[in-house]
Amino acid sequence: MCCVVFPPLFSIFAFATCGGYTGQLRVSVDCIEKASSNLSIGIDFGYPFRLHQVSFEAPMCEAMRRERVFLIGDYSSSAEFFVTIAVFAFLYSLMATFIYVFFLNKYHENSRAPLIDFVVTVVFSFLWLVSSSAWAKALSDVKLATDPDEVQLLISACKDQTNKCGSVHGPRWSGLNTSVVVYNKRRSRGCTLTPIQIINC
Ligand SMILES: *[C@@H]1O[C@H](CO)[C@@H](O)[C@H](O)[C@H]1NC(C)=O
Ligand SMILES: *[C@@H]1O[C@H](CO)[C@@H](O)[C@H](O)[C@H]1NC(C)=O
Repeated sequence: MCCVVFPPLFSIFAFATCGGYTGQLRVSVDCIEKASSNLSIGIDFGYPFRLHQVSFEAPMCEAMRRERVFLIGDYSSSAEFFVTIAVFAFLYSLMATFIYVFFLNKYHENSRAPLIDFVVTVVFSFLWLVSSSAWAKALSDVKLATDPDEVQLLISACKDQTNKCGSVHGPRWSGLNTSVVVYNKRRSRGCTLTPIQIINC
């Protein structure tokens, strides 16, 4: 006999930490000509990580001119896929739990219900595996693309050795690490990679 246990916490984690993420990095451009320097350029980005649409103004270190610089990459498909699967898995596990708790007799009378439940769960397991691996890969690319040391390479004034560019701070990743850590932890415990955990009882 199978029963669906409802551990909603981690699918909530997955879409709340990824879907609600906003981060900021800060770089400095210190020109020889001090007046045109900007020592604190803040760059904000967030879900769904369309970084190629994120831009900021950087001094060009000559005659007070400024340029608009864009970050590189579009990670929205992996991020949105991951969050969508997490949301649907959450809704399904909520519904399955509700049915299981309140209609336990009907669930067992209807011989097809456990089978449908099993098939849907297997499909979700598969989608979860695919989406969380895609997201884990995208997240490492996002981290690189928003690393202040990498962002400096996009600023033309920084290509001139006489100007000094630096990173003030990088984005905080603590929330987003959670979405990937949960996935890794579950894998290491050898569970199925699904928010709906099937256990034998
Ligand atoms: C430095 O850049 C920020 C944008 O991040 C801008 O708000 C600020 O006005 C700039 N400072 C100077 C001195 O240009
Ligand atoms: C998040 O992950 C990065 C590496 O991917 C690590 O350097 C950082 O310490 C982690 N932060 C937390 C709060 O776990």
